[in-house]
Amino acid sequence: MPQRTYDVFIIGSGIAGLSLALRLADEAQVAVVSKFALTDGGTYYAQGGISAVLDAHDSVASHIEDTMNAGAGLCQPEIVELTVAHGKECIDWLLEQGVPFTEEQTRSGEKQLHLHREGGHSHRRIVHAGDATGKAISLSLIEKARSHPNIHLFENHNVIDLITSKKLGLEKQRVVGAYVLNNKKHQVLAIASRIVVLATGGASKVYLYTSNPNVSTGDGMALAWRAGCRIANMEFIQFHPTCLYHPEANSFLISEAVRGEGGKLILPDGSPFMNNYDPREELAPRDIVARAIDHQIKKLGIECVYLDISHRSSSFIQEHFPTIYQRCLKFNIDISKEPIPVVPAAHYTCGGVLTDSHARTDIPGLYAIGEVACTGLHGANRMASNSLLECLVFAARASRNIVEILDKIPAPPDLPDWDESQVSDSDEEVVVAHNWDELRRFMWDYVGIVRTDKRLARAMHRIRLLQDEIAEYYGNFRITSDLLELRNLVIVGELIIRCAQNRKESRGLHYTLDYPEPDTSKTPQNTILKPPE
Ligand code: FAD
Ligand code: SIN
Repeated sequence: MPQRTYDVFIIGSGIAGLSLALRLADEAQVAVVSKFALTDGGTYYAQGGISAVLDAHDSVASHIEDTMNAGAGLCQPEIVELTVAHGKECIDWLLEQGVPFTEEQTRSGEKQLHLHREGGHSHRRIVHAGDATGKAISLSLIEKARSHPNIHLFENHNVIDLITSKKLGLEKQRVVGAYVLNNKKHQVLAIASRIVVLATGGASKVYLYTSNPNVSTGDGMALAWRAGCRIANMEFIQFHPTCLYHPEANSFLISEAVRGEGGKLILPDGSPFMNNYDPREELAPRDIVARAIDHQIKKLGIECVYLDISHRSSSFIQEHFPTIYQRCLKFNIDISKEPIPVVPAAHYTCGGVLTDSHARTDIPGLYAIGEVACTGLHGANRMASNSLLECLVFAARASRNIVEILDKIPAPPDLPDWDESQVSDSDEEVVVAHNWDELRRFMWDYVGIVRTDKRLARAMHRIRLLQDEIAEYYGNFRITSDLLELRNLVIVGELIIRCAQNRKESRGLHYTLDYPEPDTSKTPQNTILKPPE
């Protein structure tokens, strides 16, 4: 079995993984793997943009305050401060990498970055590239990474499990590499490395309806959990209020920036409703808007609500939202003339692998950056466009820490071969497909926007049954990419449910009918799960 050795092994080619690789590449030999194409990840689909304080009327203090308000008492103040303080620096770094952000002309004829406004933000502070910010970032970073001689890119490689020294029977615990399935050749290789970084994105695919691409199966959280890391705050799943509702539109997001530019949410009869839920109406934080829509849909027995931006001129809409305009037109919806049918969908995983302010996890040598991590920035609810910022800030912090210690870390040992002697090819692939569907449906029905103790208990019962079935299947049959993802998703499902069951209150994105108010009798606590010994 082939084995390769690097200084730093980064799992994930989104903004977190690639920005770290680019920052490290002059100092180290870096490998980056992605499960499918390099562009396949949450980053490529990001629309709205990146929050950063650039406007003369805005301030870092205001960005901090908005982030803390959205986080509903669970943000870690020092992490919010250090993240927000580096907004401008991160935008400058992306400009250096060639990201073509949208500009506007000032009255005096100079050019400056155009800023959008989104929910929860009290100022315009969203730097963007039209309405396809993620695509612009992704393509620029991939181009840079491809041309760097010290960055080794592996597409279509699915990480199966991390390898730690403890698993090898060595004394001092640290991460030493990972087993990786080459999806095309169906061959497993071992990658040995001094440092391993999880940059695997979120877990929204555990829900039936999601804005996320197929890769978002929470692999990093499951890998870290199996290896012995603590996981935190998984109950805080963010449902984006506005995904396009159309039978053929696979997970297409209608950016919050549409509401930022005056888009109104209306019922099928044309009446607005957000004024009944929050004085900020359409620009309230996402948890409030998503719950309001869910409430209206359930109360009225309707399939969707509508988002109307048709009062803005066609030229304004086409200039600011070209991707959304074209995509809706494909489904015969002219958004400059008619409202857009929308529903909420799972969008962002606020919890994840617990890290410190340098992105270090519980296992020496293992870091986690981006959506996979729980840094303390988002608390109980992430504010719009703070995710890309977090990815950049923590990649930069991890890179500084790694450069400082790299020389002192011993070379990784030889890794044992992947053992396939006890397994055969499956003759029952239908089990994997069936369990995927079942898991995603009950997570949506029982662990979605509105929860109850009873629904959570039902979901946990089903998780246990699936886990037994999947463990037996995994033990007997040769692995496939779908099976690996399912094995991870079912762990993620368990972690979300356990965190939700621990929280006996409603806070931020976690809303339960059994405890509909926040518990004000004690200081708000994060939910931290310890892995089994
Ligand atoms: P990702 O970009 O998701 O990349 C994950 C990488 O890990 C991929 O390369 C994947 O292949 C790889 N990977 C995963 N598992 C494995 C495995 N087992 N083996 C090998 N590789 C693996 N945030 C904002 O701040 N602003 C926005 O405007 C915004 N808009 C969004 C719009 C949409 C539609 C979506 C889905 C998200 C949006 N977000 C936005 C959230 C933001 O895009 C993500 O949180 C962020 O891009 C995550 O980046 P990442 O680098 O952590 O992971
Ligand atoms: C959006 O454009 O609405 C997504 C922004 C985000 O998720 O931060």
